[in-house]
Amino acid sequence: MKVLVVDSGGRGHAIAWQFKNDPNVKEVICAPGNAGIALEIRCRNAKKSEEIIDLAKSEKVDLVFIGPESPLTNGIVDLLNSEDMPVVGPVKKASILEGSKAYTKLLCREIGVPVAEFEVFDGPEAAKDYIEYVKYPVVVKADGLAQGKGSIVCTDKQEAHQAVTQLMIEKIFGDAGNKVVIEKRLYGKEISFFVFTDGETIVPMPVAQDYKRAYDNDEGLNTGGMGAYSPHSLEGGELNKLVSEKVARPLIQGFSEKEGIPYKGVLYLGLMLVEETPYLLEANVRLGDPEAEVILPRLKTPMSDISFQIINGVLSEREVEWNQDYYCDVVAAAGRTKQFRNGKSKGWYSGYPARYGKGYPISGIEDINDPDCKIFFAGVSISEKKGLVTDGGRVLHVVGRGRTLQEARAVAYRNIAKIHFEGIRYRTDIGK
Ligand SMILES: Nc1ncnc2c1ncn2[C@@H]1O[C@H](COP(=O)(O)OP(=O)(O)O)[C@@H](O)[C@H]1O
Ligand SMILES: [Mg+2]
Repeated sequence: MKVLVVDSGGRGHAIAWQFKNDPNVKEVICAPGNAGIALEIRCRNAKKSEEIIDLAKSEKVDLVFIGPESPLTNGIVDLLNSEDMPVVGPVKKASILEGSKAYTKLLCREIGVPVAEFEVFDGPEAAKDYIEYVKYPVVVKADGLAQGKGSIVCTDKQEAHQAVTQLMIEKIFGDAGNKVVIEKRLYGKEISFFVFTDGETIVPMPVAQDYKRAYDNDEGLNTGGMGAYSPHSLEGGELNKLVSEKVARPLIQGFSEKEGIPYKGVLYLGLMLVEETPYLLEANVRLGDPEAEVILPRLKTPMSDISFQIINGVLSEREVEWNQDYYCDVVAAAGRTKQFRNGKSKGWYSGYPARYGKGYPISGIEDINDPDCKIFFAGVSISEKKGLVTDGGRVLHVVGRGRTLQEARAVAYRNIAKIHFEGIRYRTDIGK
């Protein structure tokens, strides 16, 4: 069969690579993909929903898999369904679980899924009154999509007031801040928990530890993710049972009872474990990035089988199998670089997640031929003169495999050391 993967980053590369190694799959296409993915998988420059539908039809693909949240909340699955095109991902109405944090929190409260004490506000005055009224530190969250940056964790009232001002008055994330959720700040162990679901059956994936802060020892600003590893020490039957019973099952069932439609695809639960209770911080309607880069390589069951089981509502018919190898992903990011214009120095950019430069040639990839090392490309493009160049904040993921975490980590670090581009920077403590 022929499969189309819709994504442009490292997660998309990991999904497409999984299909590439699937014995049922003859060809994989990625849209839009990137120049690094294109080294091994055909990429087509389709971005808008209509372009993707046209591509899926003209290429006569047998299956479409959607990576990121925005095409899902824009309704790409509904469009593909209306063309009778098999697609993995929730429909628009079900993507509200990520599209509106207020909706999901209210649903959780209604059906008894554990969430921190919260209220929803659609104006700044009432939001600020509430901050004065509650006696504990809060997290202020934009209701809508804000590329994972819309939640502001506050230590005191002053920070919380400022967060409301930024989201609701200055509108730093636009309409995503028309509403906010203000919730009690929890202290515990944060984990991400992913499941495949056909709306009835839930298949938990293995657990990954991700690293969100820019610098070693979890210092610096939040990023999209600087690395990850899997398996996680908490993963296993006990955690699966706890999260499935307390969160995943009631949420998926509660949603379908309330809205009269099933939730199908991948569901990502951001949780805070406080003693024995998994509190839902947020739900996402897709795989995480960089978690996908260390979870998917552990998949033994063909991705195409799981996809059609989800689509046909028969996920319970066959067990999904995972290997027990360790995978460790270290992200090479665009760091500090000097900027020039017309031969004159313009000073320094401090690097991702703040301002960073682009277009630096990437070298050393060709020196990596380690069977335990895989590179997933994120922010790269191709230049006629310079070859492969940087084109984003997170440039590429170097994933090492081993029988232990130490081995996997050593493979990743040994190989990332061979790669060079101006300003390259990575954390040195992933999996440590
Ligand atoms: N109630 C909370 N208590 C403590 N930390 C929180 C809480 N809610 C969110 N966070 C922290 O903020 C981060 C981002 O919040 P999240 O709800 O996942 O939204 P988003 O990923 O869209 O920004 C979480 O990964 C977590 O570290
Ligand atoms: Mg999150």
